[in-house]
Amino acid sequence: MARILVTDGMDQEAVKELKNLGHEVVEKHFEVEDLKEQVKNFDALVVRSATKIRKEIIDAAKETDNLKLIVRAGVGLDNIDVSYAEENGIIVSNTPKASSSAVAELAIGHMFSLARNIYIANVTMRNGEWNKKQYKGIELSGKTLGLVGFGRISKETAKRASALGMKILYTNRSGAKEGYDEYSYVSMEELLKKSDFISLHVPFNKEKGALIGENEFNMMKDGVYLVNLARGGVVDEKALLKALDSGKVAAAAVDVFEKEPTENKELYTHKRVSLTPHIGASTKEAQARIGKEVIEKIKKNLDRRTADVCC
Ligand code: MLT
Repeated sequence: MARILVTDGMDQEAVKELKNLGHEVVEKHFEVEDLKEQVKNFDALVVRSATKIRKEIIDAAKETDNLKLIVRAGVGLDNIDVSYAEENGIIVSNTPKASSSAVAELAIGHMFSLARNIYIANVTMRNGEWNKKQYKGIELSGKTLGLVGFGRISKETAKRASALGMKILYTNRSGAKEGYDEYSYVSMEELLKKSDFISLHVPFNKEKGALIGENEFNMMKDGVYLVNLARGGVVDEKALLKALDSGKVAAAAVDVFEKEPTENKELYTHKRVSLTPHIGASTKEAQARIGKEVIEKIKKNLDRRTADVCC
């Protein structure tokens, strides 16, 4: 039996299943100072994006050496100091496949929202305004979508956008074409220059900082639409606001923020920003799949380790 701490919520069927397997599961979010104490008492941690597992948490866990596994119930590992955890003998794992459709569908949803002013019409109608003439939109069909990064989520987005009649350009950091006849591999610069819509699907690189800043905005078409469901730091929020105000960016969809919950009022009150609070992976189906993957990770990494140790 292992003690498992779930700090950012998990599918309830998965929690039940873990308990049925004989594990003790505690579902509670702790702020850093409390987490430093709590982590000493658990064999495994399951986190989404809200909990940050940095050096200080790992050092605290090492005091008792109970913590053997950290599972990120999601794709990105940017909220965990992976190499430091691994150097200290803690296995770090994620669930990279489970949420691709959910995030891709939200990206497409945001694109429709931007193209047809759905996000802002929702706000103004609630204020009693009837702005029919202001909300003439555009169609996605026939437009060029540039996908920055071409992993699972990006490929799912490409499939859906292509079915809507969009032309797909993609670029990735490895510089490798992926052999799709229906999508065109281009350089980052070409993608920025040619796309009507740009959707970001790359992890945040702390050392390099924002991938989309003033220079990149300058290269984009006038009136481009930008969608960021990847990570907050990938887009420089100040540069985005400037690009929105100058009209370079017609409208932007933002699900992830430099700081979460965001305190950037200028951004979250901007009239041409479609907002969601980091919910790319938040569908029943994705969370159920993530829950199943978490159980597999625990079975594979923890049960085996416990068995090795105990017998
Ligand atoms: C992910 O990386 O998969 C998401 O950010 C997970 C989440 O919703 O917290």
